[in-house]
Amino acid sequence: MSKIKTIKIFDTTLRDGEQSPGASMNIEEKLRIASQLEKLNVDVIEAGFPIASDGDFEAVKKIAQMIKGPEIAGLCRANIMDIDRAWNALKYAGERGRIHTFIATSDIHMERKLQMKPAKVMEAAVKAVKHAVSYTPNVEFSCEDAVRTRLDFLAEMIEAVIDAGATTVNIPDTVGYSIPFEFYNIIKHLMDNVSNIDKAVVSVHCHNDLGLAVANSLAAIQAGAQQIECTINGIGERAGNCSLEEVVMALRTRRNILPYETNIRTEHIYPASRLLSTVTGIVVQPNKAIVGANAFAHEAGIHQHGVLMDKETYEIMTPESIGLNTNKLVLGKHSGRHAFIARLKELGYDLPKEDIERAFVRFKSLADRKKEIFDEDLDAIIADEIIRIPETVKLKQMNVSSGSFAAPTATVELEVRGKLKKAAVMGDGPVDATFKAIKKLTRMDPHLINFSIGAITGGTDALGECTVRLEHEGHEVLGQGAHSDIIVASAKAYINALNKALNASERSSNVEI
Ligand code: KIV
Ligand code: ZN
Repeated sequence: MSKIKTIKIFDTTLRDGEQSPGASMNIEEKLRIASQLEKLNVDVIEAGFPIASDGDFEAVKKIAQMIKGPEIAGLCRANIMDIDRAWNALKYAGERGRIHTFIATSDIHMERKLQMKPAKVMEAAVKAVKHAVSYTPNVEFSCEDAVRTRLDFLAEMIEAVIDAGATTVNIPDTVGYSIPFEFYNIIKHLMDNVSNIDKAVVSVHCHNDLGLAVANSLAAIQAGAQQIECTINGIGERAGNCSLEEVVMALRTRRNILPYETNIRTEHIYPASRLLSTVTGIVVQPNKAIVGANAFAHEAGIHQHGVLMDKETYEIMTPESIGLNTNKLVLGKHSGRHAFIARLKELGYDLPKEDIERAFVRFKSLADRKKEIFDEDLDAIIADEIIRIPETVKLKQMNVSSGSFAAPTATVELEVRGKLKKAAVMGDGPVDATFKAIKKLTRMDPHLINFSIGAITGGTDALGECTVRLEHEGHEVLGQGAHSDIIVASAKAYINALNKALNASERSSNVEI
């Protein structure tokens, strides 16, 4: 039996994941995700791209100051200014600070995007790595679009950057183009032909455009790669990145033929997935492997019968192994603080006392109106009450009249930058009237991309949860709101999205609005 090798898990949820449309997070949200990643025990957290904006710089700096276990990486292009900026944020992590520098190496990227000859690209890469090494030995170098790079040039580049001091070399499938057999061969070629390859950790970074990111990552480690770059729920640019939970659970579940392990504490996977989805508003598809709502649900009678006789008939891993407690404790109006706090902890919410108090008040008020409070209700309360971005616009009160006799009218009172404002506006329906009133009061006119409303749990007393996606001044944002009145939930979601848009504009322009 071959020896079990440990594969490093490099999480890039806060960098590549944040590049998903609508996934932008503020510093507080990033810190929450980072502490969940610390609980998961990932080896490296890529916290951001420090030169991209002041907000990114601050987030990387705060994460470097706060997180104690994993290494903290910051991305930078292969130039002196980017590297200096990255190190200024990363230095707070000391030896755990990792400079991750990259340049494109495929012909198409070098010719069309960089407009540089291969020799110049090589020179820039080596110069960048040498400069990064002057700050720390913990330097990662990535060949962007490695999969479409000429193999001999890729090998030369990897050899040169390792000579220059890179201790991790990353091979990204930037456009998600590869298939497992091909990706295996690329990594194997590098393992066999780069003379100094044993001086660095070989990493892979797969995008999911063909739905093959996890398969390609597994093929790569079979060829000798020792680090996988991935994100929670597989979020990321376009079709996303390799999903952390899928690749980790594949390694764990198929240890019989994949002699590898990771340091991930898998029982924190499900809480991490929920937290990310609550923070970003990006809902996990029900049939998503590992963390989807149906991943452990057995509907068909024959399956249910089998599972009751012996779980292993249809279950290849247990829900408990990912932190999903199937014996759900349902809370109600008689549940006390202890049960409430215990449930929040099980769901992965480790909150300060004052946040718990606020959430508990909301919980009690909901429990007065609703018989059973499910985990999804708690998620909605936490999202609504705790995980909030600065509220430039606040909903004070509202009233809507609608029906089949008169035109629907919404009367809305908002606090906008500290000032109370009120308007009554008619619309084509109660939601339309409400949104028009909010637009009038905020003097914002965003483009509504998507609006959806649903009951979080069953029953007519359920909380309604509304999700609004809109675009404002080049920022696409997602807002969420929950309330037992669906029109109030819609107003809250709309205002939440407007606040996110304002926050995003503020962060990118760095000026007061
Ligand atoms: O996909 C990619 O190539 C990247 C690199 C910057 C690592 O994200
Ligand atoms: Zn990427």
